Amino acid sequence: MDAFENEIRKLLKKETDIEIQIEVPKNESLGDYAVPCFEFSKQLKKSPSVIATEISEKLSSELFEKIIPTGPYINFFINPEKLSEETLKKIEKEKEEYGKSSEGKHQKIMIEFSSPNTNKPLHLGHVRNMLIGESLSRIYEKTGHEVVRGCLVNDRGVHICKSMLAYRRWGHHKLPDKKSDHFVGDFYVKFAKEVKEDESLDVKAQDMLRLWEAGDKETHELWKKMNDWVYEGFDETYKSLGIKFDKIYYESKIYEKAKEIAVESLKEGIFENDDKGNIIAPLKKYGFGEDKVVLRKDGTTVYITQDIYLAKKKFEDYKLDKSFYVVGSEQNLHFQQLFKILEMIKITKIENLKHVSYGMVNLPEGKMKSREGTVVDADDLVFEVVSLAKEEVNQRYNDLSEKEIEERSRKIGIGAIKFFILKMDASKDMVYNPKESVSFDGETGPYVQYAYARINSIFEKGDVKKLHHKIDYSLYDDKEKQVIKKIKEYPNIVSSSMKQFKPSLVARYLLDLSQMFNEYYHSHQILKESEELKNARLHLLDAIRIVIKDGLNLLGIDAVERM
Ligand code: ARG
Repeated sequence: MDAFENEIRKLLKKETDIEIQIEVPKNESLGDYAVPCFEFSKQLKKSPSVIATEISEKLSSELFEKIIPTGPYINFFINPEKLSEETLKKIEKEKEEYGKSSEGKHQKIMIEFSSPNTNKPLHLGHVRNMLIGESLSRIYEKTGHEVVRGCLVNDRGVHICKSMLAYRRWGHHKLPDKKSDHFVGDFYVKFAKEVKEDESLDVKAQDMLRLWEAGDKETHELWKKMNDWVYEGFDETYKSLGIKFDKIYYESKIYEKAKEIAVESLKEGIFENDDKGNIIAPLKKYGFGEDKVVLRKDGTTVYITQDIYLAKKKFEDYKLDKSFYVVGSEQNLHFQQLFKILEMIKITKIENLKHVSYGMVNLPEGKMKSREGTVVDADDLVFEVVSLAKEEVNQRYNDLSEKEIEERSRKIGIGAIKFFILKMDASKDMVYNPKESVSFDGETGPYVQYAYARINSIFEKGDVKKLHHKIDYSLYDDKEKQVIKKIKEYPNIVSSSMKQFKPSLVARYLLDLSQMFNEYYHSHQILKESEELKNARLHLLDAIRIVIKDGLNLLGIDAVERM
């Protein structure tokens, strides 16, 4: 709550002991805040609009220039000078803590993301997944939650046996001669190609899975060797994108235990047997299209079995309050079923679970496909975009050392990918355009990074080390007041992006703020003004720079000090 809302509560406390609601009107002509009077009306037995009129006449405060009734509402118009003062003082005090809140009340949540299979390298879809997962983690931390970054690795199953089988047949005991997850992925692709000619390969992959399940030594050795290659490769990709996990779960370590939980729930009468002898969760009676098999008659597990056990384990391991999953929208039904089942077996309530569902990412050229080996690989993508960023950097600056060019292109390139993907509403399919994303103009990461760097360069040029504390707030003109109003919005944006699971709100906000800065800088001088005015303007720029840096950080993007 900010100083203005506090003041409204204080003012109204004198008039009524009813719990008041403070709303933000959609229409600016209705002021900055509105308090509806319907509740008072019930108690005071007068019409809401009469009460709104009576009360607003009695209220006055130097924080508001106007307090007036509009129908059943009391509208509050902030005194712009006070708005400047309160906002800028707050930022100056809080610095990068600005926008932080304790809404999360130290609730512990796990956000699971990435969660790859180990038969092939990470692709563009994983990139979107990881960026959303990491950004939400940061947004949830900023709003006072304790976040555990989790990952499930699906490291067993027939898909992995396919790469193993292909390696055994055509790999000739070769060691990786390229990034090792790509090396393994090539065998998965090879299998997909060969099986078109020879269907018996599918049967052989199934045989291999049975051997694996029976604990066959040779099969396990090969499995371990190839998975380790994959992990080595994943780690490199994670590192390039700044992704780290607090906890990694492996399907191979949990899937046996998942069987027990299905059998127990059957005994307790929560699950049932169907006429084929499978164990099912009876979901039909809760409005689902069909019941869900959770353990097959022959005792083998299905995809959801591991998730039931894993969910329970997560809550137990970390004493979680909530558990979120960043997983593609093709698994929407899976998570609806899972969450209902978790409620049935009393792991937690549905409201503590969230599937953060996201759409497909395509490149302008067309769709990504994995089996044919034309997948848009995450590493290739990073490489390509960093190269494009390098072209931009080389074009703009010719006085940089090779090392500086490398570093700057990396920050700009990676920032470009992250920003372009995160500015899109996660639930929708999207097209990622590499060329567009690295442009310094338009709705891009570099555009925002550039605004930040520009502010830095103004401070450098003016050789400003320290600002005078005292600001003459009356010096701010309308344009400046608008910018300050935008800055005041930031904590609300962070809060909404948390509640709505939408990093895109932060990205959109940063675009608006950067654009406002650019316009402002275009029309206002900074360093050549009188000391007083210069000081006021530099304070404003400093506030913008703090917010941009923090907003970028919430998206997992590094600000670039010089650009
Ligand atoms: N590895 C799975 C896949 O690639 C996604 C796992 C998602 N997480 C989960 N707990 N089910 O489709």
